[in-house]
Amino acid sequence: MITVRAPGRVNLMGDHTDHQDGLVLPAAIDRECVVTATPTSDGRVVARSQGFAGLVEVAADGRDDPRSVKPAWGRILGSVVDILAQRGRPPVGAELEIRSSVPPGSGLSSSAAFEVAVATALCEIAAFVIDPVELARACQEAEQAATGVPCGIMDQLAAVAGEDEHVLLIDCRSLSVLPVPFPTDLVMVVVHSGVTRRLTDTPYAIRRRHCQAVAADLGLASLRDTDPEQPPDDRFARHVVTENARVPVAALALAAGDLDTLAEVFDASHASLRDDYACSTPEIDALVERLVGAGAIGARLTGAGWGGCVVALAERPHLDQVIAEIGGSEVFVCRPGAGVSRVEP
Ligand code: GLA
Repeated sequence: MITVRAPGRVNLMGDHTDHQDGLVLPAAIDRECVVTATPTSDGRVVARSQGFAGLVEVAADGRDDPRSVKPAWGRILGSVVDILAQRGRPPVGAELEIRSSVPPGSGLSSSAAFEVAVATALCEIAAFVIDPVELARACQEAEQAATGVPCGIMDQLAAVAGEDEHVLLIDCRSLSVLPVPFPTDLVMVVVHSGVTRRLTDTPYAIRRRHCQAVAADLGLASLRDTDPEQPPDDRFARHVVTENARVPVAALALAAGDLDTLAEVFDASHASLRDDYACSTPEIDALVERLVGAGAIGARLTGAGWGGCVVALAERPHLDQVIAEIGGSEVFVCRPGAGVSRVEP
């Protein structure tokens, strides 16, 4: 029997840039999905989850159509099994016990944590070695296949590559990951807006297609290739282009402990997500204002938006004041943590 854990993530800068080959700056957090796997000899993967009702059962060789798996929470699991089989994982059966402390529908990538934990457990029990970036890609493909949402690779790569005390500067074109030290005197304050949502119910896919069409009109492979000094005359594309340019600025400012620049860039990012990409909500905007008013260095929507969480950066001495100000909301205070790992018994 083996146990694997994979974290959720919070994104500090670069939202809706990954699907345009752009830059992102996420950190793995100490909320995680934990999977215990016992190998079996019947060629079936059978799973139970503490958070969802019902038993999921699929063929370990991926022959069952993931879209018809019941109950519905098993579709992502079915897709993970299927995609790993396509990549050559031997069809070793397993009994999986799953639990998670990543709140679903919150922009903290509960599904990426689930995919990466399940995939890693399945690979380990079959002694199937897979490169970490390939694992993240497989999990992204599984998410896309199961949900129909054309998500980028940020969430899965953060769950795989997270590092203690570091945020990750990821180039979603080359898939290079550069760990950036997170200042010791800061914390990330993640606050839930109270609005949960599934990405399938949001305009995520429509916006992505729109951005792709703008890039194609400009004769570009993706908006990554646009000059940030001359953003396209299109509000959604302009967000992607300006947000992409903010990511290295935020990474450098974190590395240098430059709080003024962090404040500026967080503010500009939230304004762009709200006004250009139009993926904020009145609840999120109000939270961002309250957090900054209470002494946070900066605050912004994190993840896809249309609900979910806000992330703020705070200096330790101001933390109590910031938390007191947003009393009543669900709050997680975090430091960047490690990516997927085996938990030794
Ligand atoms: C979701 C997607 C990611 C990314 C973010 C927005 O979390 O899964 O790929 O696009 O939204 O930055």
